[in-house]
Amino acid sequence: MPTNIDNRRIVRIEQTIVETPTVKTLVFKDSLSHTAKPGQFLMIWIPRIEEIPMSVMINSKDGYAAVTIRKSGVGSTALFERKTGDLVGLRGPYGNSYTLKKSYKKILIAGGGTGLVPLLRLASYAQKLKIQSTVIIGARTKGEVFFENIARKIIQDNDSSLKICTDDGSYGIRGTTVELMSKVLHENTFDCVFTCGPELMMRKVVDLSNENSIPVEASLERYMKCGIGICGSCCLDASLVCQDGTVFSGRQLSKMLDFGNSYRDKDGQRINYS
Ligand code: FES
Repeated sequence: MPTNIDNRRIVRIEQTIVETPTVKTLVFKDSLSHTAKPGQFLMIWIPRIEEIPMSVMINSKDGYAAVTIRKSGVGSTALFERKTGDLVGLRGPYGNSYTLKKSYKKILIAGGGTGLVPLLRLASYAQKLKIQSTVIIGARTKGEVFFENIARKIIQDNDSSLKICTDDGSYGIRGTTVELMSKVLHENTFDCVFTCGPELMMRKVVDLSNENSIPVEASLERYMKCGIGICGSCCLDASLVCQDGTVFSGRQLSKMLDFGNSYRDKDGQRINYS
């Protein structure tokens, strides 16, 4: 059970940044940018609508934190539509985090969409530890590529590199994140792979890492009601994503039947991905 269960607070949105027509970053005053580890999440309450889990975005302004939302369901659309000056409720951070060992020399970070949020925090930690990172940003098309400038700024030292790919070839290298990762693995060795993004992509990233005998960690997303291990809405096989995750190792995930195959909706019904 998390120890910070009662740390609820109300914050005012200080800034909104439009990343793409369907993705926005909200900035607010909070100590999260110092306390949240990469992979941890917070619960955001949108008054009279819903409470939803969100990863903590990197923010360079001291004393400020941020979240990045993709407009999709009821809660995320309501949060997306909040404006500067609006209030939202927060609690957290909750969950575990990526394991960045000091012994690592070179890591591969593969993500897409808002999955980049915890990965950019991870890349920033890696830079502080002088770990060389290769970061892959994948998107379907040019208009869906965002955080490129932030990623470049984070990895500018230490011989780290950024590779961008789009499915339709409209920006960067043509191909999927997994196809690009496969090419990168032919030319380089890595101590660990870290991923976050669409689950079907992560399934392939985990399988590819396992085939190449490289340790891998993935941050998973599930529908969450309580965020603290009580309601069971976030189950992934016998694990709870809010409490046992959100980060799982490739070894754990390769034994899970739900991973890459199914998730549960608000009513707890199992939905297959295909
Ligand atoms: S969200 Fe309730 S147990 Fe995970």
